[in-house]
Amino acid sequence: MITETKIIEIENYLNTKFDESNHRLIHIYNVKKMAISLAMIYHADINSVIAASYLHDATKHETNKENLRLAGIVLDEDVPNACLHAYAASKLAKTKFNITDSDILNAIKYHCSGRARMSLLEKIIYVSDFIEEGRDFVDEDLRDLAKKDLDLCVLKIMLRTKNYILKNNKKFSNLTEQAIQYYQNKGEING
Ligand SMILES: [Fe+2]
Ligand SMILES: [Fe+2]
Repeated sequence: MITETKIIEIENYLNTKFDESNHRLIHIYNVKKMAISLAMIYHADINSVIAASYLHDATKHETNKENLRLAGIVLDEDVPNACLHAYAASKLAKTKFNITDSDILNAIKYHCSGRARMSLLEKIIYVSDFIEEGRDFVDEDLRDLAKKDLDLCVLKIMLRTKNYILKNNKKFSNLTEQAIQYYQNKGEING
């Protein structure tokens, strides 16, 4: 369980850490705002949503080398450089803030790549990271979809991300590829 005291502790940490890079702090608070609104619609635990939102990008400004060290993973694991910070932040949540709830740790860890069979909390953080109000490349239709069909919104974001990554010749995560298959199949079964 995440207490109010824990939330204030994380808030103080972020406000100090990102003092000189305000855009990151604004993004983090925007993710929190969006994630809370989705949590209210889908009945997720609000303090878990806040903790995961706050910590998801806590190590975003570290170097890849530092994030690898923090995450404790080796390079041949299927983690694109762009997602290293998510793994490192999940470890930080555990070691620095003593968060042991695996759902919160996973929501932080998979906020960048996503994965198949995400929990409600994982989907809320994944989606909020992409559609928060500061993302000017996102149109309102996608934000409306998040409130109506979270799985379809996850899939749409993943397809857009894939398109962008392939266009820019960057490494695409197998986890995202597997997730696309999973959510496409799920949509066909449900739809
Ligand atoms: Fe991130
Ligand atoms: Fe983010």
